[in-house]
Amino acid sequence: MRGILLAGGSGTRLLPLTATHSKQLLPVYDKPLVYYPLSVLMLAGMREILVITNTHHLESFRRLLGDGSQLGLDLQYAVQDEPRGIAEALIIGRDFAGDEDLCLILGDNIFYGQGLPATLSGAAATVDGCTVFGYPVSDPERYGVAVLGADGELLDIVEKPSVPPSNTAITGLYMYSNDALSYAEKISPSPRGELEISDVNRLLVAEGRGRIIQLGRGNAWIDAGTHDSLLEASQYVQVLQKRQGMQIACLEETAFRMGYIGMGQLVELAGRLSPGSMYGRHVQSLIRT
Ligand code: TTP
Repeated sequence: MRGILLAGGSGTRLLPLTATHSKQLLPVYDKPLVYYPLSVLMLAGMREILVITNTHHLESFRRLLGDGSQLGLDLQYAVQDEPRGIAEALIIGRDFAGDEDLCLILGDNIFYGQGLPATLSGAAATVDGCTVFGYPVSDPERYGVAVLGADGELLDIVEKPSVPPSNTAITGLYMYSNDALSYAEKISPSPRGELEISDVNRLLVAEGRGRIIQLGRGNAWIDAGTHDSLLEASQYVQVLQKRQGMQIACLEETAFRMGYIGMGQLVELAGRLSPGSMYGRHVQSLIRT
């Protein structure tokens, strides 16, 4: 499976922060937001990843992440010149996917929890149609919400319902088997002028090819697209990192633990980071362990 990290969009809810900066490069505590979804793709076993962003911010992403080889990845870049919707990522990424299945993650979504890598790699190995990931929320009206059957199966998805059929929000992580990618060509823009990912998923669900995996208790999901959720994400990461003395979404550590790079490369990467930063000290501490 190959990965797409979607990091364009207009970020209007974060203005004026996003007047000059990419939302996905804003800080979440001690590292750029994009590190979190990128580490999720890496933990799920993906090494070939397409970063989609807009023309203004392309160079910044390249400066930050390069071609990914330092992390044992193959990172490619594509431009979405206008935010025409999340489903457009499947069209832009069609050639990149080749004959492989695809995992799409939104660049402002943070996932964290024990067992997540195994859940995701298991899902990646078995996807047929689409697999979406559900998360219980107290305010489902704000999200795409799952309509669930008696056995928890996915029957439909409704966007921002005034009367929610469940409290299960559909998160910004989606997996597609290769043949399902063409469904993105079948949909038309919504009244707000966007190609909606929920419309692609609903087509597949209607054909009995949509599956939901619940990310329940023990997992955290934060959509960091508002000022409050961005701050909450920073606070969450700060608390966990300080209490546990561990790092969330340290790319060098993830690459090393996944076996994408060896100790020699880790030493090289650690040498590029300042021991004056907590992040740098953490990477350097891995060399001794
Ligand atoms: P949203 O948060 O739905 O949209 P946005 O980023 O444009 O922000 P706002 O609503 O505040 O204007 O997007 C979710 C993620 O998907 C985010 O990481 C940006 C990305 N995205 C694109 O890359 N292209 C798009 O066309 C859209 C709609 C979103």
